[in-house]
Amino acid sequence: MRQSLLHPSRRAGKGRKALLSRPAVLAERIERAHSLDPVVHSLSDSVVRALPAGPRTDALHGVPFGQPAHPALVRLPLGCWSSAVLLDLFHGTERATAVLVAVGVGTTVPAAATGLADWSALHQDQQRVGLVHAICQTGAATLFLGSLAARAGGRTGTGRALSASGLALASIGAYFGGHLALRLGAGTSHAEQVSHLSGLGWHDLCGLDELPDRRLVRRQLGYLSLLVYRQGGEVSVLSDRCSHLGGPLHQGRIVVERGAACVTCPWHGSTFVVADGTVVHGPATARQPSFETRVTAGGRIELRPRP
Ligand code: FES
Repeated sequence: MRQSLLHPSRRAGKGRKALLSRPAVLAERIERAHSLDPVVHSLSDSVVRALPAGPRTDALHGVPFGQPAHPALVRLPLGCWSSAVLLDLFHGTERATAVLVAVGVGTTVPAAATGLADWSALHQDQQRVGLVHAICQTGAATLFLGSLAARAGGRTGTGRALSASGLALASIGAYFGGHLALRLGAGTSHAEQVSHLSGLGWHDLCGLDELPDRRLVRRQLGYLSLLVYRQGGEVSVLSDRCSHLGGPLHQGRIVVERGAACVTCPWHGSTFVVADGTVVHGPATARQPSFETRVTAGGRIELRPRP
């Protein structure tokens, strides 16, 4: 094994330098920071208790919009705060700056509510990064609140300094949010790209009589894992990897929602209509890829991706 020739103190110095020069290294360390777990567990339990499954929680996840609501909402405080700091730098009016700071602080409420709802249904490594992201943004909101109070008391210089510090902290928090979404895939669809993986045209799956009635089973089509559900002569097929975080839908259970057979994911409870993959309940927001099926005269099931 190759040994480092550097003195331990110099190695530590190099490590700190690497952390500062490559924030991704710091974010990866946070992913593995088990010391955060007690806080993650207790906060996650509280959020799950406060947000039982239902229309309100679905709205916080962004189910009605077809994508998570949190990324859109965080633009409001960040946009307002950036504008406020720019006005401070270029001698904008105090009134306009104070309005921007106040609107920014106010809009952290819906941003935090949607973020907490999404965060409570993530894997533990994602939750650790999400916790640090939330701490940074809470700190930033507190600094901007302080800035507002200082400006109201006539201490404009202090208000400006607090705003600049708040924006710096919010930017650090935004970096961790980006790591969570773009590197760890929180909020993106984890369902497979079925149209790219399955090829064109109809594909033979299996015989109709090989499928049990009203039971979820998994079948393979090339690289694709499929969830197959037969009701008499009707066969529904969805991609088996849940669009939320890739959970195995064939291990879920069948429920009836709005008169339609639906599958509930065993990991975080996302619920999809088995006939076409429509999201009925979050945390998933992306439709589950589905397939058109037909039964041939010889009793074979054929399928192709639903356009
Ligand atoms: S993986 Fe989270 S609900 Fe399916």
